[in-house]
Amino acid sequence: SDGSDGSSDMQIVAGTAPGFEPFEMTRDGELVGFDIDLLEAVVDETEYELAEWNEYEFDSLIPALENGNIDVIAAAMTITEDRQQSIAFTEPYYSANQSVLVQSGGDFAPEALEDLEDREVGAQSGTTGETVVQEQLIAEGLISDDQYTSYDNYVYAVQELERGLLDAIVIDEPVGATFADNRDVEVAFTFETGEEYGFGVQQDADDLEAALSEGIAAVRESGEYDEITQTWFDS
Ligand code: ARG
Repeated sequence: SDGSDGSSDMQIVAGTAPGFEPFEMTRDGELVGFDIDLLEAVVDETEYELAEWNEYEFDSLIPALENGNIDVIAAAMTITEDRQQSIAFTEPYYSANQSVLVQSGGDFAPEALEDLEDREVGAQSGTTGETVVQEQLIAEGLISDDQYTSYDNYVYAVQELERGLLDAIVIDEPVGATFADNRDVEVAFTFETGEEYGFGVQQDADDLEAALSEGIAAVRESGEYDEITQTWFDS
């Protein structure tokens, strides 16, 4: 903040990557989801104003932030040391593990990553799910490079899984469970990764980071966080 009231530098632009239900998706041409409601509620607690939402492929979000095309990433992005080399994160706002999705009603019922040996596996480019494939399947020799397909969007991966062109997808558990509710796919198993989502900001945006982190604490305390959770998740 430069201290001047309502100056345009208090306006921030958010970036997200829809196709990741229920965190961010397009419904009737409109961007909706948990992250959308949460960031808007959090920014409302601050002096900043959310001017607009821009949509990207997930793996273009960090470059867009680094280039200054956006000020904040709200995309169910896991806080990782690797990402912290180039961007900063707010305090965590959601915890998640990974899951493996398979076709509904098929005979393939893996119970652990080892069971994906020699199978066709998919994940979204630039995600922690992709890192699991690279580090725990390909590097371990369970599948070859050719047996892995990287998608710009998990929606395309789910479509290919439904058609039997993939055997399995590695994906954040809450999103895998939502696809399982809405599509012809099911969660075969989940495995613990202890991931925490944070909003991403530029490395030198200390004021914005602090304001958003305080905003997250405020919406947790006010009950708004729970309301948003109830809107987008069963229970
Ligand atoms: N949590 C995972 C990660 O940080 C997946 C996030 C994908 N988000 C999205 N909006 N497509 O890599």
